[in-house]
Amino acid sequence: MNNKILLGSIVLALATFGAAAEDAAMAPAKNAMKATKSGEVSFKNDIQPILRDHCISCHQPGASGYLKSGLDLTSYETLMKGTVFGKVVIPGDSASSTFTKLLTGTNKGLKMPMGLNAEGTLDRQYILLMRNWVKQGAKNN
Ligand code: HEC
Repeated sequence: MNNKILLGSIVLALATFGAAAEDAAMAPAKNAMKATKSGEVSFKNDIQPILRDHCISCHQPGASGYLKSGLDLTSYETLMKGTVFGKVVIPGDSASSTFTKLLTGTNKGLKMPMGLNAEGTLDRQYILLMRNWVKQGAKNN
């Protein structure tokens, strides 16, 4: 093979790989838009990336939110288990689920992510996505 062509393919492969990596980093936001259009919300593809980016720093064993409430947001199973006081997700009912109620600070002044200012508020797309996921039955999909 001609060296120039070989070099060209390597550069192309690297560029493609770079774009794919960027796509992966943008995945939650893109999925959020898709979800609003199609109405389909996936725990694995839509919800888990949001929890990973915005919640598990405090909600994993040893961290503040876990120590105070027992809520571990690192997996579907632990999310559905809820806190030491009880469940935070009521499948089908996002208005009664603490998991989604706390995102807009309507539950006795508590707001998640922790902190009451607008700065700490999740992107509106993410909030809608989480509510829709609960409304659709909070499935492990
Ligand atoms: C900066 C740390 C921090 C982050 C980030 C955080 N939390 Fe929390 N969370 C806490 C603490 C601390 C508590 C215990 C609050 C209390 O009981 O006073 C808590 C409690 C909770 C509870 C239980 C409330 C109850 O009383 O039943 C839910 C549900 C919750 N968090 C959801 C979330 C979600 C969803 C996210 C991400 C969008 C999130 N948290 C991000 C610190 C955090």
